[in-house]
Amino acid sequence: KNINPTIIVIFGGTGDLAKRKLFPAFQNLYLDGRMSEKFQIIALGRAEKSDEDFRSYVAENLNIFSRKKEISDPETQKFLSHISYHSLDIDKEESYQGLNEKINSFDEAFGERANRLFYLSITPSFISTISSNIKKIGLAANANQDRIIIEKPFGYDKASAIELNEMLSQTFKEEQIYRIDHYLGKETVQNILAFRFGNSMFEPLWSRNFIDFVQITVAEEVGVEERGGFYEGVGALKDMIQNHLFQILCMTAMEAPASLAADDIRNRKADVLKSIRRIKPDEVDHYIVRGQYGPGEIKGTPVPGYRQDKGIAPDSNTETYVAMKIYLDNWRWQGIPFYLRSGKRMEEKQSSIIIQFKPVPHSSFSYGKGGMTPNRLIINIQPSMDIKLQFMTKKPGLSMSLRPAEMVFDYFECSTMSPEAYETLLADALAGDPTLFMRWDQVEEAWDAIDTIQQVWKTTAPANFPNYKAGSWGPEEADELLARQGHKWIPNTQT
Ligand code: BG6
Repeated sequence: KNINPTIIVIFGGTGDLAKRKLFPAFQNLYLDGRMSEKFQIIALGRAEKSDEDFRSYVAENLNIFSRKKEISDPETQKFLSHISYHSLDIDKEESYQGLNEKINSFDEAFGERANRLFYLSITPSFISTISSNIKKIGLAANANQDRIIIEKPFGYDKASAIELNEMLSQTFKEEQIYRIDHYLGKETVQNILAFRFGNSMFEPLWSRNFIDFVQITVAEEVGVEERGGFYEGVGALKDMIQNHLFQILCMTAMEAPASLAADDIRNRKADVLKSIRRIKPDEVDHYIVRGQYGPGEIKGTPVPGYRQDKGIAPDSNTETYVAMKIYLDNWRWQGIPFYLRSGKRMEEKQSSIIIQFKPVPHSSFSYGKGGMTPNRLIINIQPSMDIKLQFMTKKPGLSMSLRPAEMVFDYFECSTMSPEAYETLLADALAGDPTLFMRWDQVEEAWDAIDTIQQVWKTTAPANFPNYKAGSWGPEEADELLARQGHKWIPNTQT
């Protein structure tokens, strides 16, 4: 990819994301020769700090979070020399003047005006102030060279997202705005497109004619950790479903794009979001289950319930689990349920897509105790990274009875190269490739698809929170949601 001289400005440079993800990702890109020789990272924070102090803080954390453990000290030192620290008061216009001078001094040293990449790794409430100050001082005056990366959540409902977008559009054009969803940077998520459109044998089966239902699970073992304050006002619907799970849904259900050009892919994904059937307020309970974990055990270790976690109100109604049934109103998928679920403090970490094909129309075989298993395709996104195809075979022996078997492709069997999601996404943003970022219409449609649910939940408190035990697979109601249609949640390991 074409890497141009760039000055990267990180708002929230002393924060958790920068420490764990951004600096290690930039370091790896640097070591892989994916950064221009002319690049500088300016980390912004409120406190006064010297460059030296900040670099040793970054170095310490690189030791903990970097993917490449064998990095030599001189290499790290070289990378660190490209990082400087600048103290900024986000609210004060004058403070941006100082930043401007700093940026200009690097341009001078480079002998040209470098591209500018502003990374907003801060609470969303600051986006507006930052963006208007960037405009006032003219920090991003060149639309062809300057970009902004925004972390999710992009707004908290459709109306607030529209407002945020209108405000951002006063400073940046759509092509300059990179709305990040880190799931799109994951290797196994990108592989969905390769698998679907790089093969001819699955696509003819990929529709309502042969598929019975689809399940998408993103389960985490972790609770809210140190992020209680943030999570309280958000919950699983906005934190996971509206973005990560909807994006996986798009990759699974989209039509083939005309080309791999950013907008061709994003057009097809936007079509999926548009086709999500909008539900009425009185249907919310029928299609969606919300849950919150109570005390329990994760792999034998007792853990507190959500309401006992740090920063959480003892009577909190925030959901830490969502399961929902979605229909896509289009030709390919009419009538086929897509079951989505995501939760914290589940039995195990697991992200997967399970495609269950229709049963055979007629069978005279005997299937033994387990009965007939329909064909399934299981795409494991993490931590297992594989694709399994499950089918029936003859059980060895004298009788003609069947048993399930599987063919497995392990994503990393022929390579250990596994870039972190943030490396892929930052490399793309540096090169000006927005394919893996969310275009505005996608964000708007995704909010539109959940707005009714949010409104209903706001006015009706859940009667039964906490309704699942930490370390379980979620509330019973989520099983009932599928049982109504004769379906079950399928473990990704089951044959
Ligand atoms: C983030 C959510 O976007 O994704 C977190 O805000 C969640 O709550 C995280 O834990 C999960 O990401 P990953 O890459 O660990 O699956």
